[in-house]
Formats: sequence, C-alpha cells, structure tokens
Amino acid sequence: MTRLLSASATVLAIALAAALAGSLEGVRTVLAVAVPYAAFAVLVLGLSWRVVRWSLAPVPFRIPTVCGQQKSLPWIASSRLESPHTTAGVIGRMALEILAFRSLFRNTGSRLERGPRLVYREARWLWLAALLFHWSLLVILLRHLRLLVEPVPTLALVLDRLDGFFQVGAPVVYLSDGLILVSLTYLLQRRVRNPQVRYISLFTDYFALVLLGAIAVSGMWMRYFARADTVAIKQFAIGLTVFRPAVPANLGDWFFVHLALVATLAAYLPFSKLVHLGGVFLSPTRNLANNNRMKRHLNPWNYPVKVHTYQEWEQEFHDKMAAAGLPLERP
Ligand code: HEM
Repeated sequence: MTRLLSASATVLAIALAAALAGSLEGVRTVLAVAVPYAAFAVLVLGLSWRVVRWSLAPVPFRIPTVCGQQKSLPWIASSRLESPHTTAGVIGRMALEILAFRSLFRNTGSRLERGPRLVYREARWLWLAALLFHWSLLVILLRHLRLLVEPVPTLALVLDRLDGFFQVGAPVVYLSDGLILVSLTYLLQRRVRNPQVRYISLFTDYFALVLLGAIAVSGMWMRYFARADTVAIKQFAIGLTVFRPAVPANLGDWFFVHLALVATLAAYLPFSKLVHLGGVFLSPTRNLANNNRMKRHLNPWNYPVKVHTYQEWEQEFHDKMAAAGLPLERP
C-alpha cells in the first residue's frame, strides 16, 4: 500500500508542479518547449540505446519458448504456430502474440483450497484487461494525430468516427476513453487486492499504472469538462513538430498537466518495464524459428580448444600407474 501511495504522490506532485509552472510567465515556455523536446530526445536516444544493446547480445542457439511439437521426422505432425520452424510460422506466431496477447490467454491462477489442495484455474481477466488497455491506448494515440498533423490523416478521421459511434451529446464520448479507464482500474486493483501480486509489486509497477491513468484522466478532463482550446493547442503542437515553437496564452492549466505527464512517460519509458513495447519484437524466445532438429547450428564463437586426452594422460603417468598396480588401457 505504501508503494501505491508513494507512486500516486509522485504523479500528483508532477501534475501540481506542471499546473503551477503553466501559470507562471517565463516558466511556462520552459515547460511547453524545453521539457517536451528534452523528453523526446531522451525517448529516442534511450530507446535506440536499448535496441542496440539488445541486438549486440549474443544468441548462439535457437532458444524459442514453445508449447507444441517441434518439426522433426516427416511422419510426426509438427505444430506450425506453437513451435514454428519457418519464417512464415514465426511471423504468424508473433502477430498473434502482439495483436492478441496469445501467450497471456493461457494464463492460469493457483489457489490453495481445503484439503489442502492446490487448484489451478484458467485466469482470463488479466488477458482481457491487458488487451483492452493496449488497444485503447493505440486508438487514442492514433486519434491524437488530428492534433499533430495537418491535413488530418484519414486513419485518424476514420478511427474518430468509429470510436465515437455512440454520440450522446457534444463533445462525442469515445469508447476507447471508457475502456482505458476500466482496464487500468482493473490492472491497478489486481495489484492491490491479490496478495501474491501485491507482494511482488514494486514502486515502479504502480508508478507506470498511475502515470498512464493520470494522463488519460487529464486528457478526458480537458475534453469533457475543461473544454480545452484545441485550435490553439494544435497550432502549438504543430509549431513544436516543425521546430518553430510558439506558446499561445490560452493553452490552459490542464493542458500543461497533460503535457508534463506525457513528457514524464516519454523520458521514463526507455528505462522502465514499459520498454517491452520494443522488446517484444527483439525477444529471441519469440522471434526465432524452432528448427533445431532440421538444421545444425554451430556456436559462432567456437575456437580450437587445446585438450589433453586420457590416452595422453595415461602415457604421461604410465610408469607410475603400472607401479601402483592401476588398470591401464595400454599395458
Ligand atoms: C502517451 C501519450 C498520450 C496519451 C495516452 C493521451 C491520452 C489522452 C486521452 C485519453 C484524452 C481524452 C480524449 C481522447 O481520447 O482523445 C486526451 C485528450 C487530449 N490530449 Fe492527449 N494523450 C497523449 C499525448 C498527448 C500529446 C503529446 C498532446 C499534445 C498535443 C496531447 C493533447 C491532448 C488534447 C489537446 C486533448 C483534448 C482533446 C479534445 O478536447 O478533443 N495529448 N489525451
């Protein structure tokens, strides 16, 4: 509980500092211009550094994690998706993993029941909440293109129409906004209520969830209650993207809060567990074909090793061994 409280207090402190800085002439330019640029630079350099380090890590063997029959003899049926032996199979498996979180779908939970008896059950809520959260986030980010690009890309317009299909008034309420709130709330309460998960949860686990939740809430507040001036915000955002920043006076406190939280997320991402967004593509346990029985894989760093065989050893100590009455291969 302390970890959750300190994570929430940290996010709240960032939000309050941003609201204060946004209302102070002079400081607001730093917050609106220097902070986003610095955060973006940290994001790009940090991610590149992580990717370079991952790609330099030696992978001498095929080490995919599989749960299906490997390709071997022609009369033994192999599992093309669970244990893919071709590149097409790997692409299929990766696509299902990234788009549908297939391995998480097999998630199980365990419980000690009376007896005592350890019972394993399928646990699909985590899969559902994770899937809803990630898809909602993607839709929200793609929809944000309307604030950053002119003319607005067709994809952003189509998503906007689909996402806001149940218009209950103005402004249109987005389905993705509701889903991201529900899924984040589920993920957070799971960490707090499940004793095993709570035991292994760190400050950083809560921080990531609370930060994402605060970004979503501040964005929704701007849209549905504070009614931010999106025309001014778009001018400002486009100015940033073309490196001609200008800070209009009417951006609003909530926008500064939203921006500061997004900048925090961007700068924090490369050094946090959220970097799995890039790591999943580069994971050798996922992106390698399991053709260990079809192909002979040689360790690329094999070098000639100087060995001392038993025969040579026996020859060296032959006389001593014979004198001690030890058995000899060559008497
Ligand atoms: C991780 C990145 C971001 C996330 C998760 C996020 C999330 C959200 C969410 C959930 C909303 C509520 C309305 C909606 O769904 O469109 C929103 C609104 C908004 N966001 Fe973001 N946002 C992000 C980045 C940004 C950035 C970089 C900007 C700067 C231009 C920005 C500006 C806005 C504005 C102006 C609104 C109000 C839109 C309206 O009134 O229709 N957001 N954001």
